[in-house]
Amino acid sequence: MNQTQGFVPPPYPHDRLKDLLVEARQSHAKLLDLSIGVPCDRPTITGDLHNDEAIRRYPNSFGTEPFRQAAANWLNRYTGTTIEADQVRATVGSKEFVAGLPQYLKLRSPQKDTVLYPAVSYPSYAMGATLAGCRAVAVRTDANWRIDVSSIDPKDAKRALCLWVNTPGNPAGGVDNLAEIADWGRANNVPVISDECYIAFTWDKSPQTILSNGTEGVLAVHSLSKRSNFPGLRIGFYAGDAELLDYLGEVRKHAGFMPPGVSQLAAIEAFADESHVDEQRQKYQQRLTLLAEYMGALGAEATMPEGGFYLWVKSPEGDGWDFTRKLALEHGVVVSPGDFYGDAGKNYVRLAAVQPLEAVDAFKKASGC
Ligand SMILES: Cc1ncc(COP(=O)(O)O)c(C=O)c1O
Repeated sequence: MNQTQGFVPPPYPHDRLKDLLVEARQSHAKLLDLSIGVPCDRPTITGDLHNDEAIRRYPNSFGTEPFRQAAANWLNRYTGTTIEADQVRATVGSKEFVAGLPQYLKLRSPQKDTVLYPAVSYPSYAMGATLAGCRAVAVRTDANWRIDVSSIDPKDAKRALCLWVNTPGNPAGGVDNLAEIADWGRANNVPVISDECYIAFTWDKSPQTILSNGTEGVLAVHSLSKRSNFPGLRIGFYAGDAELLDYLGEVRKHAGFMPPGVSQLAAIEAFADESHVDEQRQKYQQRLTLLAEYMGALGAEATMPEGGFYLWVKSPEGDGWDFTRKLALEHGVVVSPGDFYGDAGKNYVRLAAVQPLEAVDAFKKASGC
């Protein structure tokens, strides 16, 4: 029975690499997989994953009081904000929130139909708009991969349910001026949703949150996946504007979002500790440096990002897919072609610094670099 007349899901970005991987495996016994941002490092804090009470109960959709307090304490300690526990709501990792937010904002403001997002960015911002039946309108990024809000057409701003920003950014590592963007959102009556899941990884700037200059009209979205190597526990939170928080919290309760209790316990421990994050930061910095050297030796222009743990490299072949193929077939190195992150990224590739130094070094030597 084929009843599909409407939306047909496009291939998932990383599934588009499958055929190339099969081909690459014919000439390389082992591949160096730098395509997905999944840490290779063990989580050092895992909480009480066998806690009977946490497993037996349905979790509170907003997150437990201790979870919300731990998240608020961490953000306040880390960025100097003064948010309270009741300004925090838990999420099941942050991707579900990113991809689901537009449909809930659309329910709240049915007269609006547009989601604004950075032209070079994590694909789920645009996909969330599509899944909500909205227009996904890409906003230009500048030479430093920062979103240029001055380029937004006022007609699009009027129709916008939200503007996404991501600092430090995936894939290009740009660090935006969040205070300026929050001002733009307030002036244009567009909620600014700031995805801050890479906040722990800035290389020469202090960590930034959109909440530093007040919570009105803005939400910060956080995740433990990157900071604490927790992607499998699916735990994060959002915080900010009281009215948005109330609306989203209630709607998401009806929709059945309940962050697992054991994940919340692990997160409480992880929020209280910075030493594991400091160690992780050092690892990423060393790996990024080595990867930049490796790419440089292969003739690709690679500069250190301002933040995040990805290297965003201009393809010496012109097209990002051509360089992706060359790296996989000639060197056994798997990267993501830049068009995964929007057409504006099509002449780039992204390398995730998620493999140990020794593994990168071995591939670098095998390439004769
Ligand atoms: C920019 C950005 N936002 C959100 C996510 C989702 O992360 P998670 O759902 O694990 O919190 C990712 C994952 O790679 C990301 O790169």
